[in-house]
Amino acid sequence: MTVRDRLGEGDPTGARPATPSGPGTPATILDEEPAHVDALGLRLAYGANKVFDGLSCRFAQGAISCIIGASGSGKSTLLKLIACLIKPDFGDIWVGDQEITCMPESQAMVFRRRIGMLFQAGALLDSMTVFENVALPLREKTRLTEKEIEEEVHLQFEAVGLDKVDKLLPGELSGGMRKRVALARAMITRPEILLVDEPFSGLDPIAVRVVEALLLDLRERTGVTMILVNHDIPSTMRIADQIVFIVGRRTLSGSVEEMQQSEDRRVRAFIDAASPGEIDPSVWQGQESEL
Ligand SMILES: Nc1ncnc2c1ncn2[C@@H]1O[C@H](COP(=O)(O)OP(=O)(O)O)[C@@H](O)[C@H]1O
Ligand SMILES: [Mg+2]
Repeated sequence: MTVRDRLGEGDPTGARPATPSGPGTPATILDEEPAHVDALGLRLAYGANKVFDGLSCRFAQGAISCIIGASGSGKSTLLKLIACLIKPDFGDIWVGDQEITCMPESQAMVFRRRIGMLFQAGALLDSMTVFENVALPLREKTRLTEKEIEEEVHLQFEAVGLDKVDKLLPGELSGGMRKRVALARAMITRPEILLVDEPFSGLDPIAVRVVEALLLDLRERTGVTMILVNHDIPSTMRIADQIVFIVGRRTLSGSVEEMQQSEDRRVRAFIDAASPGEIDPSVWQGQESEL
């Protein structure tokens, strides 16, 4: 099996590629499920710093996709592009049948209602109670009555395993509970896509497993398409249906099995570095500019 090479330039016409399938093509989630998000030939630079140079990748509908890659490789940037918070210099991003990079801000605001976001710094507001934190998107984006808001918030609390937390302040919660609250807030508007940046950072190993179970359960119950930036490789291996590895300003994607069996030295270096035991330091030589 080979990792699907997505180092191509992307179709210069901007046309959406057909889902690859057929004899000889390894079965991946993208062969079975339609792409929900399809990024084609993205280029993005901050001044002289080229972040993406022809990056193309697809995220399957209803799947858990994990974006991995070295620090500074552009994982968070990719999430922001999908959320239409920033725009690429070139390239297209399709979400369902909508192309989002050419949207005016008024349309982007409407589009973002379809997206739940749980970003690294997307911390809870410490001066607001847990209830008010989770109710906030409903107050901002809907015209629900107070009673309806209360019902929705409590439904979400139940979904993430929280009880009797309404009046607590975020500062009174453990790290794992804060993640649950943040997840409840990201899911409160029932998004079709959930973007999560490093959900496991700062959690102890048991809390990591609890949050993993929560994400799997949420996906199962809601069918939400999850795109996670996850630098925790063992965790990625446990929960991902698909892995998108950003390397050299582009991506390599595949299933967990494909990644594990890949002979691409950049994939190997990344995965082996997270495994217990020795790694061959020579594999890193000359990789600094890419990894
Ligand atoms: N707003 C910004 N202005 C300038 N450079 C940025 C900005 N956001 C990100 N970058 C740069 O883009 C690159 C990718 O950043 P980021 O997506 O945060 O990486 P990752 O999440 O993989 O660690 C880095 O070199 C970073 O310095
Ligand atoms: Mg980041």
